[in-house]
Formats: sequence, C-alpha cells, structure tokens
Amino acid sequence: MAAPFLRCDQSAAWPQLQAHAQQLQDLDMRRAFAQDGGRFAHFSQQAPGVFADLSKNLWQPQTEALLLAMAAECGLAAQRDAMFAGEAINRTEDRAVLHTLLRRPRGLALAGDQPWLAQALHEVHATLDAMLAFAEQVRADAAITDIVNIGIGGSDLGPQMVVRALDAYTQPGQRLHFVSNIDGHELQSVLRRLRPENTLFLVASKTFTTLETMTNARSALAWFQAQGGQDVARHFAALTACPEKAAAWGIRTTFGFWDWVGGRYSLWSAIGLPIAIAIGSAGFRQLLAGAHAMDMHFCQAPLAANLPLRLALLDIWYRNFLGFGSRCIAPYHAGLQRLPAYLQQLEMESNGKGVDMAGQPLPMATAPILWGEPGCNGQHAFFQMLHQGRDRLPLEIIAVHQAAHALPGHHRLLLANALAQAQALLVGRSSACGHRHFPGNRPSSFFVLDALTPETLGAYLALQEHRVFCSGALWGINSFDQWGVELGKQLALELVAGLEGGALDGLDASTAGLIAHLI
Ligand code: F6P
Repeated sequence: MAAPFLRCDQSAAWPQLQAHAQQLQDLDMRRAFAQDGGRFAHFSQQAPGVFADLSKNLWQPQTEALLLAMAAECGLAAQRDAMFAGEAINRTEDRAVLHTLLRRPRGLALAGDQPWLAQALHEVHATLDAMLAFAEQVRADAAITDIVNIGIGGSDLGPQMVVRALDAYTQPGQRLHFVSNIDGHELQSVLRRLRPENTLFLVASKTFTTLETMTNARSALAWFQAQGGQDVARHFAALTACPEKAAAWGIRTTFGFWDWVGGRYSLWSAIGLPIAIAIGSAGFRQLLAGAHAMDMHFCQAPLAANLPLRLALLDIWYRNFLGFGSRCIAPYHAGLQRLPAYLQQLEMESNGKGVDMAGQPLPMATAPILWGEPGCNGQHAFFQMLHQGRDRLPLEIIAVHQAAHALPGHHRLLLANALAQAQALLVGRSSACGHRHFPGNRPSSFFVLDALTPETLGAYLALQEHRVFCSGALWGINSFDQWGVELGKQLALELVAGLEGGALDGLDASTAGLIAHLI
C-alpha cells in the first residue's frame, strides 16, 4: 500500500513559512552569529563519515523548526520507510526504489520489509560476490592493462566520479577509461591508445538499448575485430538489468541488477564494476558499508538531527521561500572533479519536474540548477560572481581533513582557501570604493570528510541521495522517473533521416534551416 503523503505547499506550516520569510528578509547572519553564541553548534552536526556546518545559511532556528513541522505534517518519515520497505513508490513506472538494498548487509531485515525483500537481498549478495570475484580476477590479470567502461548518465557518471575520487586506492598498472558520448571523438581518442589483447570493455546500460551506449559498443566491437582481437567473450562484459539483451548481443559475461535500481542510483550495483576493478573488492565493500551507515542514520536519527532531511529542508527554504534558482558545488579535492556533474544528474534528473505524483502542475519551483568546479580552480574563474554579483546563491563546500598525499603544505593552503571563501562570503568587507566592496551575508554550507576513503565517500553520496529523496517527497513529485529525457531521444532518431537527405516537411523553420546548413 502506498504511503499517505501531503505536498508541502498544502501543509499548515507552508503559509507560516511564507510569513516567516517576510520577517527574515533583512536577516544578517553576522548579527545572528553575534546574538546567538550557539548558532554554530545548533546548525552543525556529525553524521556517519560526514561533518556538516549549515550555520552560514540564511535561516534561523525558528525557520528550521517550521520546516521540520512541515516535514512531519507531510508524512516524510512514512514516505522514507515506504522506500526502504520496498513499496512501489516510483508510481509512474510501478516500481520499488531499492538502491539502499544494494548496500544492506547480508541477511539484515528491517521492520516493515515487504516479504520479497529477503530473497531480493539474497540475490543482491550473490551478484555482488560474483561481480567482486570477477573484479579480482581482472585485477590479477596482467594481460589486461586497460578497462573501458562504455555507458552514459547513471551508467557512467557515478563510476567515473568514484574511480577518480578514489585514485589513491587504485592499483597502478591498470587504466580505467570512460566513454559516454556518442561523439566519435571520445571513443576514438580512447581506442587509439589501446591494444585489443590488453583491453576489457564493459558495456554498462540498465536498459541495454541506450543509443549512445549501443552505438559506442558496436564501434568498439568492430574496432576490436578489425585490430585482430580474438575472444570477444574474454574482452567484453555487460552490466545490465536486461541480461537477455546482452546475450543476444553475443556477450557471455554479464552482471545483472534489477528494475528497482534507478540509473542514477546504480553505482552500488553491477554498474559499480569499474569501481571494484579500480579499488578492489574490499574497497568496494567499504564504499557500500559507508553508504549503509548513512542509510541507517537516515532511517533512525530523529528528524531534527537527520542530516539528509536538514539539507533538504534548507533546499526547500532556499528554492521556494528565498527564490534561489541555483546552487554552486565546490569540492576542495581535485579527485572530486566529476562530483558536480554526478550531483547534477542525481538532483536535476530526479527533481527537475513540473508536476506532482498525480500529474498535476506544481505551484512552486522544484530542483535548482546545480553547477560547480573544484576549488581552488573555481576561485580563479566564477567566484567573483558569488562574492560581488547581483545574484545571491548558496555555495556548498566539500573539504577533506586528511589528505592522501605527502605534500602537507599544499593541503593546509587548500583548507585555508576553502575556509576563507566561506568566511569572505559571510563577513564581506566594506569599502567606500564600490569595486572593492564585498557585501557579505552570502550563504554557504561546509562539509568535512575525515579523509576521502571508500567509506566516507559512500556515506557522502548516500547523504546526497537521501537529501534528494526528501526534497522530492516534500514537493510531492516522483523523483525516480525521467520522462523529460524521452522527447529529445525520439526526435533525434527522426532527424537522422533529414540529415541523410530525407524530406524536411513538417519541421519548424529553424530545425529545417539548420539541417539544410549541415547536409
Ligand atoms: O536518458 C536518461 C537515462 O535514462 C538516465 O536516467 C540513465 O542513467 C541513462 O539514460 C542511461 O541509461 P541506461 O543505463 O539504460 O543506458
């Protein structure tokens, strides 16, 4: 049975929050810190693997209290429990949403579990064991020097981001490549560095129908054969929820997963094989353990101390009451280079929707635009706008306490820069010269991971997943479908005919004009 829910704008707390936002229009965080010696303690907390300081944000304890009342009224806890229990909360596709099961320890039952979950968990672990055994086999295979993951969206961004982030844990001697774009430049620039006998291709696609991935996989296979490659079965493996399609394609080694794993939530499944090859099976299990620890925090911590929920409430406050349309992500760790792109898919594909679960238009804004670059690089590019531009928008800094390199001087400077940016945004600096004036009172959140390990990264990523779940649930939308990507896919296929010289009848004048220019 689907959990009852109330959309946040229909709650009694909503108009109270609107009135509260009016009262808080002139909130000056500098004054708020001066008046409340407990502000940092109130708005910061340690969750598994992640410390978060939310005190430099444009809210007050009373704001959060109202937002928490709204979450309680909307039945957020019941919605969360329905997800963990395996209810079909992805209602437009009639599917359960169980990426959390992928990191659940073997045999662990939770109160409220649907009866079929015990068997599903058993299958999860059987697949995980097989996938990790294969990863170890690949790692031990000196003939395999290059692994090419061919996939896109969730079948690319998560594994790619994690492999880069955990570079310190990867074994030398094997290179991981990620090919996602249908743009032949990408595949070709990877292939020209490879030899077929030393390469393993992983064709990663939940549906095994995605145009970009299938096109790249076909071209990779053609290259493999043209270069004299022998033994396709040894050099190609598939990661998919449709093993029968991979078999039809001629791939014999397949690791499967289930339709209750959404693409952008799939790095914990067989889609994580490149991660397991890079960091080893023990490392992959630590990644899962970190995520599971955050799952338990999300399930068990009281709402007022529940970090994913607190983040989501801040997001709703900013989006719907202060009108912020974007959030900047600045990871202060070069390995987290792809984190902004990963979070873009996670949040914007999940919550970038204009209708509620019942298909009714929403009266309020939903997912903001996420964007960003690692610090310090961003500081020398777009931070100018954050400090002095006309738009105020929240910045999110992710810092790592212990570095994994032997250049301590670098790390102190990096951390000092991260702290300084958040400080400068808050305190500003007055100057009679407009060009040199920093208004300050600009919001930021600051996350600290003790070290960037598989475990802390797993916890941080699960935190972000649950944050997106909470804001989506409160907005009353289905965070687990993505119908908005379909139209462009369909039209692209139709336009191929036009590009091959076919009739342009019925096209809008701009598309027809561009095709005429291109052929
Ligand atoms: O087009 C969007 C999307 O469906 C994403 O949600 C998904 O992660 C990506 O395409 C790739 O899909 P697949 O893993 O089925 O190839």
